[in-house]
Amino acid sequence: MGTPDVSKIFGFIPEADFAALRSDAEYSNALLHTGEGKGNDFLGWVGLPSSITPEFLAEIKATAQSLREKAEVVIVIGIGGSYLGTKAVLEALQNPFAALQRERKDPVILFAGHTISEDYMAELMEAVTDRSIATIVISKSGTTTEPAIAFRIVKQEIEKRYGTTEAASRIVAITDKARGALKSVADKAGYKTFVIPDDVGGRYSVLTPVGLLPLAVAGIDIDALVAGAQKMEAATAPSVPFAENPAAIYAAARYALYRKGYKIEILAAYEPGLQYFAEWWKQLYGESEGKEGKGIFPAGVIFSTDLHSMGQYIQEGERILFETVISVASPHRKMTIERAENDGDGLNFLSGKRIGEVNRMAELGTMLAHVDGGVPNIRIEIPHIDESSLGELLYFFEKACGISGYLLGVNPFDQPGVEAYKKNMFALLEKPGYESATAELKKRL
Ligand code: PA5
Repeated sequence: MGTPDVSKIFGFIPEADFAALRSDAEYSNALLHTGEGKGNDFLGWVGLPSSITPEFLAEIKATAQSLREKAEVVIVIGIGGSYLGTKAVLEALQNPFAALQRERKDPVILFAGHTISEDYMAELMEAVTDRSIATIVISKSGTTTEPAIAFRIVKQEIEKRYGTTEAASRIVAITDKARGALKSVADKAGYKTFVIPDDVGGRYSVLTPVGLLPLAVAGIDIDALVAGAQKMEAATAPSVPFAENPAAIYAAARYALYRKGYKIEILAAYEPGLQYFAEWWKQLYGESEGKEGKGIFPAGVIFSTDLHSMGQYIQEGERILFETVISVASPHRKMTIERAENDGDGLNFLSGKRIGEVNRMAELGTMLAHVDGGVPNIRIEIPHIDESSLGELLYFFEKACGISGYLLGVNPFDQPGVEAYKKNMFALLEKPGYESATAELKKRL
């Protein structure tokens, strides 16, 4: 990908406001490398792509291969940053109709531990009754309740089916090197484990084993994914001048808009496979920026689908939105609209055109309509949806998020606000140690 096209924000903010952020953006980028900014004990992701060795990738692939040989279904257990990156890349790259393929060469990846829905869990376990299974359980802290509950259930099922010795070879744990309940359970049972580095937070962890192992199990080319990220690491280095640095440009553009009252950013794509990419992005930006009463609210849409649901609001609702479009230059497949004998549906004006061309015109038409309606537009183009482009995008958004957090003046690497619901949930579940909160909260319900 090249640099983001920010030309369509200048009808809304003076170009000088954006240009004035140049040195702050460069400085914020430099802080991510010098480690002198807030949250500097969580900067391990900054140089992560270039630190990944072929030996490390070989170890990931060997473990993935052993799970691929054992299981038709691999259940990936995790929540937040411990699952969204994998889900984002998988959804983007996998054939959405894979479930109907008669012969699969790759195991099916199913997710658990990202919800506490009883129905979801029961239906998942029912769905795998006649399938061989394995699991990858991911939790950096090793103590998160949602994945811990799911793991207890999946582990018991695997042990019941295969016995404890074989079960141990069907379970891989990805967690902290020393701390947390998951680490103790894994050590005791002798599971293969991978470490999430101390200095890489959950939402920045997709290029660690957290994302790489499940993606390799699914048959994704992780070498190409990492190579894409490495390319973007180089393209966003502090030595790269502002005008050529995609992450600095994007961060400065969105911060300039925020300062002028554009408080909601909509990440839009015209490919349904990118829906979970937007979910990953929402977590990255929402948890990194939304604190101290500040931050851009991240939303995601898939067009043209959501033009028939959210399009009205975007066109004419409160003028506090801006849009960032991930534009895919060309599809992989080719499908042309054929001419019909009696043009009953009136579509013969499209005959001979590819569906992708219609999609492209929908994209360009929407961009102009939304700009005319008062929605500034940032456009990021990738050539195709493939491992390399996704690797670039992942690192690009991570880097820009770090810069954005520093421009905003917050620590982009903590998430203190996530604790509030946990305390209440534990108190309501009468967890030992929460007795006084239990009584108080129950009175309020
Ligand atoms: O970004 C983060 O750190 C969080 O969103 C975590 O990814 C999420 O809470 C899951 O935590 P853990 O991996 O410790 O189970």
